Amino acid sequence: MHHIILDSETDFDGWRNAARALALNDVKPSNVTWRVANDASELFAPTHQPLEPPQGTFSVPARFVELAEVAILHRNPERFALLYRLLWRLRQHHDLLEIATDPDVAEITAMAKAVRSDEHKMHALVRFREVGREQKSHFVAWFEPEHHIVELAAPFFARRFADMPWSILTPDVCAHWDGHAVSFTPGVAKSEAPTADRLEETWRSYYASIFNPVQKEMPGKYWRNLPEASSIKPLIEGAERTASAMIAKAATEPHKPQTRLEPSVESDEASEMARRRADDIEMLREEAADCRACHLYKHATQTVFGEGQQTAQIMLVGEQPGDKEDLAGKPFVGPAGQMLDRALEEAGIDRRKVYVTNAVKHFKFVPRGKIRLHQKPNTPEIKACRQWYERELAAIRPDLVVAMGATAAQSVFGKITPINKNRGRPIDLDDGTRAMVTVHPSYLLRLPDADAKAREYRRFVQDLKIAAAVLRKSAHAA
Ligand code: URA
Repeated sequence: MHHIILDSETDFDGWRNAARALALNDVKPSNVTWRVANDASELFAPTHQPLEPPQGTFSVPARFVELAEVAILHRNPERFALLYRLLWRLRQHHDLLEIATDPDVAEITAMAKAVRSDEHKMHALVRFREVGREQKSHFVAWFEPEHHIVELAAPFFARRFADMPWSILTPDVCAHWDGHAVSFTPGVAKSEAPTADRLEETWRSYYASIFNPVQKEMPGKYWRNLPEASSIKPLIEGAERTASAMIAKAATEPHKPQTRLEPSVESDEASEMARRRADDIEMLREEAADCRACHLYKHATQTVFGEGQQTAQIMLVGEQPGDKEDLAGKPFVGPAGQMLDRALEEAGIDRRKVYVTNAVKHFKFVPRGKIRLHQKPNTPEIKACRQWYERELAAIRPDLVVAMGATAAQSVFGKITPINKNRGRPIDLDDGTRAMVTVHPSYLLRLPDADAKAREYRRFVQDLKIAAAVLRKSAHAA
């Protein structure tokens, strides 16, 4: 039996080194126990059966490493063993991760998802309080993460609050930023966190202006720590009044129900729905800002997330942000966006009522002198980014998705979908989404022949008119 003791709850390198040595020594998962050292002396405790120094190598899919790096931050004490079992099985079955129904794959995927969601909650919910004054002021926040995410989440705060020295105190580990580097110290008790200061009022009014009823579904554990907690009850009441007004209005003007405000139901399906609804677009935008799902983030200025009302009935999907969008951080603000605005107006669709997004959320380009030349995203990039489209779709639940161009069609339909054969008619997808394809406005901009350009533009407007008609029809049927 081998008893592996890791340095800390987040000791991925320790787990990886031990797992590699165990696997190369053909040690079965059932012959290994894993735990984390309680104190430094334990780190040097011998493993019961010494391992031979690892000979040879083996490879695992890059996706496993990415998944393991995140899943290891889950609080489940079985995670180290589960990861080793998966690693062991992957050596025999290299494509195992493709089998989403495999219990080990499903469990590790769910763990990684829970960790990411906790990271995103921390990004959205940490509230700093000022301690000290002027030159000596320091900003301190208290947070209780569900999982071991402090090291994972800290770089986000270093970027976001680069100009102020801060500390985030948690029961597990504390993160500190001095304007140059992030450091970590052991966790502390809540009593060490400051309780009130002059920032409180600022947070309260800021929060009142951005309040979204999604916070209603937030566990009390989180909102109790927010300075704006005292404003939450009146805000919820205000939101409910707004909801009632909207529902009353719906009697004369059919509109998609505001499902985030429905009372919760007890079934599993309903709680899954509630979780998905909790994917408020602003929270998704925050989470996507840190997306590393493919390499495109490395050269792009920022993630360009979708934009528009969460109650939008039409979701327009483009390919990827262009140069202007990359700099502005907003979709369709450059030449293609202007063409789109014009066509929407001619089709009688108010852009302010549409949610506009892209299949790929980072600008892909090659530098050519001072110019950044657009590059078409490839299939792995489209697939890596599809999670965001799926979550936007779940949050918005539009009546119709309009995919503009081949990349958008591939993402929306989940496979390569020829435009000309399918354009201009609503198609019901297996997941219940109603989708339509048309050309991308950039295609119209690129057409060299003026007649062809005018003709194709009219067809594009015609497709958008069909989208508008589909909506009118579904509004009548509702
Ligand atoms: N082209 C796109 O597909 N999306 C944008 O946001 C801009 C140009």
